[in-house]
Amino acid sequence: MTDRPCITIEHLAKFVGQRVTLRGWVRHLRKSGKLAFLVIRDGTGDVQAIVSKAQVGEAQFTQACQMTQESSLILTGTVRADARAPGGYELEAETLHVVHIADPFPIQPKEHGVGFLMDHRHLWLRSRRQQAILRIRHEVIRTCRTFFDERGFTLIDAPIFTPNACEGTTTLFETQYFDQQAYLTQSGQLYGEAAAMAFGKVYCFGPTFRAEKSKTRRHLMEFWMVEPELAFAELADVMDLAEELVTIIVHRVLTHRRAELQTLERDIAALEAVVPPFPRLTYEEAVQLLQAKQVSIAYGDDFGGDEETVLSRAFAKPIIVHRYPAALKAFYMQTDPVQPDLALCMDMLAPEGYGEIIGGGQRIHEYEKLQERLREHGLSEEAFRWYLDLRKYGTVPHAGFGMGIERVVAWICGLDHVRETIPFPRMLYRLYP
Ligand code: 4AD
Ligand code: MG
Repeated sequence: MTDRPCITIEHLAKFVGQRVTLRGWVRHLRKSGKLAFLVIRDGTGDVQAIVSKAQVGEAQFTQACQMTQESSLILTGTVRADARAPGGYELEAETLHVVHIADPFPIQPKEHGVGFLMDHRHLWLRSRRQQAILRIRHEVIRTCRTFFDERGFTLIDAPIFTPNACEGTTTLFETQYFDQQAYLTQSGQLYGEAAAMAFGKVYCFGPTFRAEKSKTRRHLMEFWMVEPELAFAELADVMDLAEELVTIIVHRVLTHRRAELQTLERDIAALEAVVPPFPRLTYEEAVQLLQAKQVSIAYGDDFGGDEETVLSRAFAKPIIVHRYPAALKAFYMQTDPVQPDLALCMDMLAPEGYGEIIGGGQRIHEYEKLQERLREHGLSEEAFRWYLDLRKYGTVPHAGFGMGIERVVAWICGLDHVRETIPFPRMLYRLYP
């Protein structure tokens, strides 16, 4: 379609005064006499092209004037620096090739309801705001991977089909696996533990599934989790690791995705406050803090969304709450030798009311204790035989955590719901598109 090498809008600055070819879509067209102003996006940015009838000729000018929102085109022109232009550059069009004239685009530059936008999620992704969010998501994911890669963790991904309930039996998605009953994984942790005994330090990163029957701003049915697991490690080690990870993620986004944060009108100062050390509270201290804030909660109650919101508004940084009553937690949690009714577990809560972004802790490494705990939780020993095996062959204290990507992105972007943090959200009443 063109013999000229194409460039992308993000690189325009390097081509001032030169002739370049761009490929993209029309966000907006404004006509004014013998001039047409086309705002073009190409996925890396936006630029305004000035199309003048004198320059491109009658036929191409007429075509330019027919371009609807989201029509696609290939355009050659000269790059001009212009301080008044959004982004600082403009293009003086010389030739214009229309690839497709789009039908009337359903999403207009006006207010649409969330239901309508979600029904058009496949098109909504083209908006500046959605692109900013998903670019930040990419930065968060990239940082997770480099963080663990640079620290000697081996990536060992866990299966999606599993016979094991990792996080309780109430949120399992059941599925038929030929003649067997299987579940979609709730967490890769159990497999991470096996891998940690093989490799020492590992992480898995993939989609996880929870049949959450409630509609909240924090829950998806399908979400992505990064889960490190370390042999010869204890609760304190993973609290430190989680703190370092979150600090670096926020720092990377501030450094590399500042323009996107600005598009989202995010309060930058709130993110700049995320520096270690993060406050650490025991569950008991957290309950006392809630009670002091007039929240009606008793020792032994779990924290729901409301309690998390209050706790996480009480501090300017993420906080780590550790040592919950073991009765509130999953079967695999190691207990505190000092106070055996407590679990050696931790949750990290993001500030500004966002709540839990990380859950983890130290695992039971003793065979009999784990066997007993499986029984108490009504879990089949048969399905967990392989997991019990790990406690028979060179068992060691070990610990890890899981961080939900969407919760982190919602917080960093300052969104009021997780639904925009994943390209195609799966929610209680949403499987389309
Ligand atoms: O606290 P959770 O349930 O912990 C685990 O799954 C552990 N097995 C992880 C581990 O130790 N390897 O979930 C971990 C995190 C939460 O803190 C939250 O960020 C996210 O996963 N999460 C969800 N995110 C979106 N929608 C949901 N329904 C989520 N459930 C959990
Ligand atoms: Mg949790």
